[in-house]
Amino acid sequence: MLPTIGKLRPWADPRVNQINRMPMHATMTRENRLSLDGEWSFDLFAHPDEVDSAILCELRANKSIVVPGNWTMQDTGDFPHYTNIQMPFAGSPPDLPERIATGVYRRSFVVRDDWRQLQTVLCVGGAESVHAVYLNGEFVGYGTDSRLPSEYDISKFLVTGENILAIVVIRYSAMSYIEDQDQWWMAGLHRGVYIESRKNVCIADIVCETDFDSQKKLGTLTVDIEIGFFGKPKPGFVVRTRLFSPGAKVIGKTHSVAVPHIAYQPYFFIGHKTNFSWVVNNCAAWSAEAPNLYQVETELVAPSGEVIETVRQRVGFRRVEVRNRQLLVNSQPIWIFGVNRHDHDPDKGSTVSIEDMRRDLEVMRRHNITAIRGAHYPNDAAFYDLCDELGMYVVDEANIEGHAFNTSICDDDRYLSSFVERGARMVQRDRNHPSIILWSLGNETGYGANHDALAGWIRRTDSTRPLHYEGAIFHGDRNRISKSNWVDGGLHASDIVCPMYVPIDAIKKYGDDGLGTRPLIMCEYSHAMGNSNGSLADYWQVISNTPGLQGGFIWEFKDHGLRQKLTDSKTRLAVGGDFGDQPNDRSFVADGLVSSDCEPHPAMHEVAWVYRPITNEIKKIKSQVKILVTNRQSFVGTENYLACFELLVDGVVTASGNLPNWKVNARSSKLFALPCRVVAPTKSEVHLNIFWRLKKDSWFASRNHCVAWDQLELKRKPKAVLKVARRNSAKNTVGSSEFEKLLVSPVELFLWRAPIDNDGYKLMPELFEKQGTGSKAMQTWRNLGLDRQSAEDLVKHEMLRDVRAGGGEVDFFHHVVVPKSLDDLPRVGVRFSLPEGFDKIRWFGRGPFENYPDRNSGTMLGEWAAKPDAPPYLVPQEFGLRTDMRWVEFTSTKSNQIVQIEILQPSSMHFSATNFSAHDLFVAENQCDLKPRKELIVHLDVVHRGLGTASCGPEVLENYRIKSGKFSFAYRVTVR
Ligand code: GAL
Ligand code: MG
Repeated sequence: MLPTIGKLRPWADPRVNQINRMPMHATMTRENRLSLDGEWSFDLFAHPDEVDSAILCELRANKSIVVPGNWTMQDTGDFPHYTNIQMPFAGSPPDLPERIATGVYRRSFVVRDDWRQLQTVLCVGGAESVHAVYLNGEFVGYGTDSRLPSEYDISKFLVTGENILAIVVIRYSAMSYIEDQDQWWMAGLHRGVYIESRKNVCIADIVCETDFDSQKKLGTLTVDIEIGFFGKPKPGFVVRTRLFSPGAKVIGKTHSVAVPHIAYQPYFFIGHKTNFSWVVNNCAAWSAEAPNLYQVETELVAPSGEVIETVRQRVGFRRVEVRNRQLLVNSQPIWIFGVNRHDHDPDKGSTVSIEDMRRDLEVMRRHNITAIRGAHYPNDAAFYDLCDELGMYVVDEANIEGHAFNTSICDDDRYLSSFVERGARMVQRDRNHPSIILWSLGNETGYGANHDALAGWIRRTDSTRPLHYEGAIFHGDRNRISKSNWVDGGLHASDIVCPMYVPIDAIKKYGDDGLGTRPLIMCEYSHAMGNSNGSLADYWQVISNTPGLQGGFIWEFKDHGLRQKLTDSKTRLAVGGDFGDQPNDRSFVADGLVSSDCEPHPAMHEVAWVYRPITNEIKKIKSQVKILVTNRQSFVGTENYLACFELLVDGVVTASGNLPNWKVNARSSKLFALPCRVVAPTKSEVHLNIFWRLKKDSWFASRNHCVAWDQLELKRKPKAVLKVARRNSAKNTVGSSEFEKLLVSPVELFLWRAPIDNDGYKLMPELFEKQGTGSKAMQTWRNLGLDRQSAEDLVKHEMLRDVRAGGGEVDFFHHVVVPKSLDDLPRVGVRFSLPEGFDKIRWFGRGPFENYPDRNSGTMLGEWAAKPDAPPYLVPQEFGLRTDMRWVEFTSTKSNQIVQIEILQPSSMHFSATNFSAHDLFVAENQCDLKPRKELIVHLDVVHRGLGTASCGPEVLENYRIKSGKFSFAYRVTVR
């Protein structure tokens, strides 16, 4: 039994948020710190009650374990568990399972003698789910909220020489019900642990509040400093502060104020607080585009005149407000080019280093992502430092999600204090970070009194940031009739209309209606599960042109696969259930724009394009063709980028050059003349590519990196209409062409694709029934037999061949009639396989990356070369398509043979060429189970269903679906 608290069982009581935990404060770096990160002794128990108190002072252990780290990732026999909405165990709040894995961490440390006279504080960076601290066998304190640090005063527990610290971490607690985020349930000390020596009089907290008046370029700063007395307050202490500019120049004068030491005066209690303010003329404001940081230096001076402590805080001057249905930073609307980000690493689980965070940010910014919702909890403080410094807008979200008890826990008063404490502590720690522009009350926990309590606290404490909470605008206010929740529901708890996964029509309507006061920013949209993010460009077409809409946060940045060793030579990226975890939600955890290892999935290229800072469009002004360049940045001109162009005739560059005169101010558009003369044969198509490149190396990419691009069509190719006569005269010549002799599998009609997650979840078909989420398409197709039956048996198909040039050339003509019963097919096209060795591909079409009909706006038509793609998705599914192909050529590196395919009708088709069949992809459950075939499997599609985002959100839009009817297509194959 755990000493002192064992019988009280705080972990089972939702009302106990902490015992003996010190108050929260802004993150401060102090000199005397001793990191306790590294190897600790570790033992695991099946329940907190089973912990033998003797072990708390015992350094011998069954195992050694690394801190910070999840024990679930360190061979302890206790594994990660993945669930989305459902809890990992049965019951209702605050019921707990019979087995509650409990880890006892121990290590020893010695403190310097001089520390013994001072205050020593232990900081536990993050522990899942709850933790109790023991020093030398004595109970020190208890803390909850796995995503914020807990500090304890350990001074009076310290001994001279070796001290034995034990931290008992309890995997499930009453708090698990409000940490029910869609992610792996882990366990352990996942953030760092250290001890710190504080002077007996020290700086306890610093609150910096800034404002920026953009008209007057005037910055104001108020700083509230609280001095902590360890022991009886004494007079004579002074706080001295200075403000430094981004260029490290002192601004104004040094302020100096005596610290009030009288703790109590009748009626007024002022505490030991001092307050300073600055007015900065000609102030360099902070924004994500220009992250100017000033610095406040605070010195605590003893009565003797000695400086006992110096603390530096970075501050950014900026104003965030909601006005006229717009979220404004420094009086300008900003675009939310956002993603949701979890802490995740495939090997370390929820433990991430500063380097990991920085790499996430670099990859984001390389793809023009400038806003992050910290889904669904506060990150390590270092993350916000990076965002302040590098320039990212952040939504800081309280660690509150009660998804399984969505509509009840928010009104459950047993959880009231935990709601408030989680949100309040987040604000207290993070409010000095300029990158944080919105406070979020959490995620998916209905909307109730507990939220209102938290909202009230935050509004009163920090009036400089608007509130964000999806539940408030989803559920709205009970007992009150509102026009609609988006217009006037949940006003108390959300200043932003922040819905998730809503269709384009709905946001357009909200924007157009012009009702209400709040801007619409989707807290989640475009679910990136597998091959996804269809219609991103359609979203942005509407967002960019509808007042009241400002963007959103794509769900989500990274897959959460966990590397799992299967044999000595085989590993896989595990999803729910792969650890024997029951119940689970399988691969719903793999829904990122980048892989678990941070490799961008193909959709990232589309993200980079829709989020580009500069757009370029064709405008016809009095029959003159001009280019309209729009700078979508809110504060800076285009001067950091150099524009350049390429003129493409039939995909081949015929002219190119730089455009140094192209300059556009922030939030403005400007017309420019065509950069070159357009000369091209009448039968050709002509495109103008515009690129904007970094002039200098930056933190996220090196010089020349392309931040924005557009391909503008200057001349369309005349439509290739096959003469009917030709079609009718096409012979079905007997005898094979060279091409057909070469084939490993013949040309056959093909209608099926290995379902993408947006077609249905193949690993969890029951989810649709259980939860109503996902698409029915896969099930419908399978019921029709698409995955098993030959396409010839399902639709009418006529194929004519015309073998010519002694067999070296063959034309194929296909006429397909798709009956009404087969509306909404995955594809209509043909498939064949080329023998081993054909691994060089060249084509004229959209590329170079994988693209689909509703996810190809960011691609360019051009002549591209590639090898067959490796399957990019954790759960195998359709991949590798290239749309609008005019011709494609396959070269064998074995035989040097070249197979060339030219599309005769319509003017282009889509193609893919991979070493995997649709069947291979469909039957495999994990990327690691796929074995590339030797042959190259080629698809030519006259139509291919869009991707949409139905794994969580709207289905493929109508115009990207395949309607029943007639399809004719023709192509010429030449073998050389
Ligand atoms: C949302 C939720 C996210 C995630 C997503 C689906 O409802 O807020 O945490 O579960 O759906 O991937
Ligand atoms: Mg959820």
